[in-house]
Amino acid sequence: MSTLTPPEVAPPVIANWRGQLRLGSIVTEAPGVKTFRLLPSSGEGFLPFTFVPGQFLNVAFGIGGARMNRSYSISSSPTQRDYVDLTIKREPRGAVSRHMVDLLAVGDLIEAGGPVGKFTFDGTEAESVVLISAGVGITPMVSITRYLTERSWPGDIFFIYTCRTPADFIFSGEVAALQKRNPKLRVAVTSTKAEGTDWKGPRGRLTKELLTQTVPDLASRRIHICGPATMMEATKALLTELGVPPDQVKSELFGATKPAVSTGGTTAKPGAAATGPLVTFSNNSKSAKIHEGQTVLELSEELGIGIENSCRVGTCGLCKVKMTAGEVDMEVQDSLDEDDKANGVILACQAKPKTEVTVEA
Ligand code: FES
Repeated sequence: MSTLTPPEVAPPVIANWRGQLRLGSIVTEAPGVKTFRLLPSSGEGFLPFTFVPGQFLNVAFGIGGARMNRSYSISSSPTQRDYVDLTIKREPRGAVSRHMVDLLAVGDLIEAGGPVGKFTFDGTEAESVVLISAGVGITPMVSITRYLTERSWPGDIFFIYTCRTPADFIFSGEVAALQKRNPKLRVAVTSTKAEGTDWKGPRGRLTKELLTQTVPDLASRRIHICGPATMMEATKALLTELGVPPDQVKSELFGATKPAVSTGGTTAKPGAAATGPLVTFSNNSKSAKIHEGQTVLELSEELGIGIENSCRVGTCGLCKVKMTAGEVDMEVQDSLDEDDKANGVILACQAKPKTEVTVEA
């Protein structure tokens, strides 16, 4: 048995924390990718929350008169109690990532909340782990690998990464340093655009051959995948062909969620007249029938009601609202705890009404 037992005296885990953090430093990791080190608002001491490797933080900014939320994975290890690192890629059409990468300065105060997310691995879940990522999806994998290395976790870690050019290999120096420290860490990195460079590693997209050459007994191991949607779908297909049972595969989508706005606007495309159950937003004294397949969040946006949101996939918890009447289906409920469920709290981004519904929004 080589899994870790949880520490005897675990640090207090503070969930649902919201407050301010101070930007302590900014480091460029790769073209358009920066790591933001966040400290307690006083600039010193321990963070007001703890986290598990693989979790993320929600951040909020006022940009162009609108409040915008985003969720970013933590790249540092939870063993570092006095700071948390977010590693962020500047997306040309991403208002928050552009704001952060272009405009933030050391000393700025940042509104944040969390930690949240269940895409985690702390060594207690399995005896070995395969971490497959692409692009900026490397961030939670680096947090996990740092943590397991610092804890001298005895299991094998297979770290498989795809980058465009060799220069886009985020954390290349850190991964090399971790390899030197951790004899159980095996790394394979493939570059899809290595032409004209002296890249000595594998080239092209991830293949079944690269997976099986890197990971013996792949089908028996726990596997985490993080990256863009196309990469995750392609990787899952490869794993299925290699006989990996789907319940051994955990995944988190990066950079492909729908645009999130919290001050009106709409992402819903209603088309025909709505025929679904009536939804009442009691704080705004507004009601409307919902369209088939539409979520409470999408209907709220159609009606100009600002329910905060970020991930829109059920993990960040920002869109929690209290339901005072009715019943909904929710495909993902990762960010609801037992208290939330007992108190009728739902995730607006996931909630599809089964009956007439009233929510406090
Ligand atoms: S917006 Fe993140 S859980 Fe709904």
